[in-house]
Amino acid sequence: TVETSFLGITLANPLMNASGVHCMTVAEMDELAQSAAGAFVTKTATRDYRAGNPQPRYVDVPLGSINSMGLPNEGLAYYLDYCLARQNQQALQFLSVVGLSYDEIVENLRTIEASDYQGVTEFNLSCPNVPGKPQIAYDFELTERLLTEVFSFFTKPLGLKLPPYFDIAHFDQMAAILNRFPLTYVNCVNSIGNGLYIDVDKEQVVIKPKGGFGGLGGDYIKPTALANVRAFHQRLNPSIKIIGTGGVRTGQDVFEHILCGASLVQVGTALHQEGVGIFERLVAELEAIMEAKGYTCLEDFQGKLREI
Ligand code: DHB
Repeated sequence: TVETSFLGITLANPLMNASGVHCMTVAEMDELAQSAAGAFVTKTATRDYRAGNPQPRYVDVPLGSINSMGLPNEGLAYYLDYCLARQNQQALQFLSVVGLSYDEIVENLRTIEASDYQGVTEFNLSCPNVPGKPQIAYDFELTERLLTEVFSFFTKPLGLKLPPYFDIAHFDQMAAILNRFPLTYVNCVNSIGNGLYIDVDKEQVVIKPKGGFGGLGGDYIKPTALANVRAFHQRLNPSIKIIGTGGVRTGQDVFEHILCGASLVQVGTALHQEGVGIFERLVAELEAIMEAKGYTCLEDFQGKLREI
């Protein structure tokens, strides 16, 4: 079986969408909720509606995707109301949130805390696409200050969406900070920020915002994602679960993320390309790998990557 349990709730499988993909509108979220995915996460919300960056702002390319969406979203109340309305039917929901300033972040998390929302909150520390707003989680001091303030009042299950790190010292430093807080999980990784994809015939960039710079997803990022899942799984308190995100297109990719220590696995670029039918395919491919290897449940291999 590929069933798994998260926060004591049984999920049919460990698969979810990655925030931002197929989760902006009620229609998209309803499709996810009715799909084979074990759970879903909403588009990252700010307090107020945002139109986002000018188009084209998301492009699929042969090895993945590049995007600079700029945090288009319907505003926190839209996603909070959606989750509240269905929290008695759906087993597990994740509400993704950030803010455009320190004070707005605190305000948004206070809004969630004060509501009847019982699900999981994903605090997004890693949006690379809003001009003038650096990724929060690349500022270690700010991250620690924010988490200290948030955990002074926030009592519901809280996870973090992290950007990829590329240096062992950064894994060490960020893990030491995160281990001081009662986090439910960390999600590794958001897109690799600010890549540049070029159309060589046109000698031109392919997305309009920021002169063509945008977050990379898909095959480009799987080794970086696996490294981050593995590094944080090795360093974080066992009470802090890992969600693996990045380069998941096949059942083998799901298997690899779980082998590195992921408890749940999210799909972004490939979900955007294939639609919600991808979850059934990934489950079937994962089950085939497990059967061939003689594994009967995810715990048989979760986190058990071998070193040589
Ligand atoms: C956007 C992109 C991200 O990677 C993210 O975490 C949040 C928002 C965006 O551009 O909309």
